[in-house]
Amino acid sequence: MDVKFNKNPNVQFFQQHLQELLTDYNSFRQKKASELCLSMLQPLFKERHLWLTHSGTAALEMVAELLLQSGKSEIIVPSFCFVSTAVAFQNKGFQLRFAEADPQTLSASVPDMLNNLINENTAAVVWMHYAGTTTPAFMELVNYCRANEIFLIEDAALGFGRTFDNQAIGNFGDAAIFSFDITKPISAIQGGLLVVQNKNWFKQADTYYHIGTNRSAFEKGEVANYQWVSLGSKCQMNELNAAFLLDDLQNYSSKITRLQQLSRYYVQGLKELQLKHAFDLPSVFEHPDNHHVVGLLFTTAELAQHVQKQMQQSGIEVFSHYQALHAAPFALQNQQQRSLPVAQKLSTNYLRLPLHEDLSFTHIDFVIEMLKQAILNAP
Ligand SMILES: Cc1ncc(COP(=O)(O)O)c(C=O)c1O
Repeated sequence: MDVKFNKNPNVQFFQQHLQELLTDYNSFRQKKASELCLSMLQPLFKERHLWLTHSGTAALEMVAELLLQSGKSEIIVPSFCFVSTAVAFQNKGFQLRFAEADPQTLSASVPDMLNNLINENTAAVVWMHYAGTTTPAFMELVNYCRANEIFLIEDAALGFGRTFDNQAIGNFGDAAIFSFDITKPISAIQGGLLVVQNKNWFKQADTYYHIGTNRSAFEKGEVANYQWVSLGSKCQMNELNAAFLLDDLQNYSSKITRLQQLSRYYVQGLKELQLKHAFDLPSVFEHPDNHHVVGLLFTTAELAQHVQKQMQQSGIEVFSHYQALHAAPFALQNQQQRSLPVAQKLSTNYLRLPLHEDLSFTHIDFVIEMLKQAILNAP
């Protein structure tokens, strides 16, 4: 049985949206698909301004530009994270300080951030919600940042659709970013979202987003032409991607419900395996709302490699995830070196299992059985 890690997208209304874009002049001119996506997203983020971007990376780059105003030089980012979360800030000349990971949430260690990294040069802390997780420790960080005037940025690339304390994640920081890449449960094929809470940033973010122009004022009829007024870039999501995202947002509930069912089924099966010596199932995956990722942290890197190879031979795709950023070749040239053993271990010992809505419980039983055999056959 072949069990792929991901799958081709299932679409329901995409062709319809595409047809409208190609044939209806007003829809095309007015970017109707983007507008509809925004109207579906806005209720999740009250009193926040939203911009659809061409990627989560573009949204991070906008945040980095906004943070230049702080006049401070350092940004704290998780080491176990995607390269965009570092490079967006490095590109703007910030000094990065990498935080250790937490082996249960796979997000950053709050004590490491609070006790070892935050200092008078800290412009912002970037929190990555791995699989959309948010814990009481995160609230400690939120409160600390608010009390100490440090900007808090939520990297919720892997978190769309998750809530904490009855609020969508993305509602806790000064700004938040989401990714709608094809690898994410809700996708534009490629796309992202910037959510800004900090009112002082609205105007600058909007100008930057529109290639450094006052295009929004022009669109509202406030000026006759739009002009170049500031620094900027073309950050917008294109309409083809927005048409795709719209379809996914319209199918949102059924998709997420299915993924949550599959994730719970995995967790139940994995917990029943009596192989505690071989791997740990991080607690982040036990949350009943998890729908982003299911993964295992193996006791050794050799075992993880062996399992990946064996599973591949059985037709099952399993993949590692981020490579610790603090130990990346570019970071080693540019940053002070720290030993971050958990982030390092997650780079080498962690494997993600297939999770997508075309899987059945039979597929998951097969994955778990093959996993068990691979572990029992390990040298
Ligand atoms: C934690 C995190 N941040 C940012 C990004 C960048 O998002 P995008 O691929 O949409 O640019 C990713 C991508 O997977 C990610 O995992």
